[in-house]
Amino acid sequence: MRVVILPTELEASNFAGQFIADYINDNNNPVIGLATGGSVLLTYDALISSHKEGKLSFSKTVTFNLDEYIGLEPNHNQSYRQYMKKKLFDHIDIDQNKTFIPECFDNNFDLACSHYENEIKKHGGIGLQLLGIGSNGHIGFNEPTSSLQSRTRVKTLTKNTLSKNARFFESHENQPSLAITMGIGTIMEAKNILLLGLGKHKSKAVADVIEGPLSAYCPGSVLQNHQNATIVLDQHAASDLKLYDYYIQTEKMKSKYNC
Ligand code: GLP
Repeated sequence: MRVVILPTELEASNFAGQFIADYINDNNNPVIGLATGGSVLLTYDALISSHKEGKLSFSKTVTFNLDEYIGLEPNHNQSYRQYMKKKLFDHIDIDQNKTFIPECFDNNFDLACSHYENEIKKHGGIGLQLLGIGSNGHIGFNEPTSSLQSRTRVKTLTKNTLSKNARFFESHENQPSLAITMGIGTIMEAKNILLLGLGKHKSKAVADVIEGPLSAYCPGSVLQNHQNATIVLDQHAASDLKLYDYYIQTEKMKSKYNC
């Protein structure tokens, strides 16, 4: 696990943006896993800027989002489809037919989930998966005690997650309490994983992910078992790490010796 700690949210997000841009530029048919939420917004801004500066094209990129609420049509203001359009897709040269988000309109959840898994396989698997982290350690919408081998399926959201995400909904809007999410096993099959943690309110979850026991109670801790996981943090999100100085030193060595 590589742990990169940068002073500010902007620097951490720019690092994540550059990491994704490098992956897209280095691969002929990049397949990128995308996340929603507040933490990835500055990363998407960085990708849009690179595109506008002519340094990055998404014309060959295929994307798969981690999750989607159940009960919101794709054109609903709060659907993750609309989030992705507003925050990224409408500002870059991606073919939106190649942007996948789990969807289920006829309550045939098993079919929707296996279809999503099949689409990922058909495209050769995810090359780089971007993740945020819930303050309870969830990745995607895999809440605590999710099976570490789980595949794409329906999950009930915890009170903690519902209350944290309530800020995105107007008072008159119905906030769904169910979602389709890639499973932890699905996420772990990505060839590379980039997890972004920003802010003091994420510091405990971040410490549990990196230094805690590997446990379904903190789903993000499963990344300890991934061969190519990079965790990018601002200093506040990193503030509960016991080996804080070690991670800083390791990155210095990495750039000094280019290893
Ligand atoms: C949400 C999403 C996750 C996201 C996480 C953190 O519920 N399903 O993909 O990473 O929770 O969200 P935020 O970045 O807004 O703190």
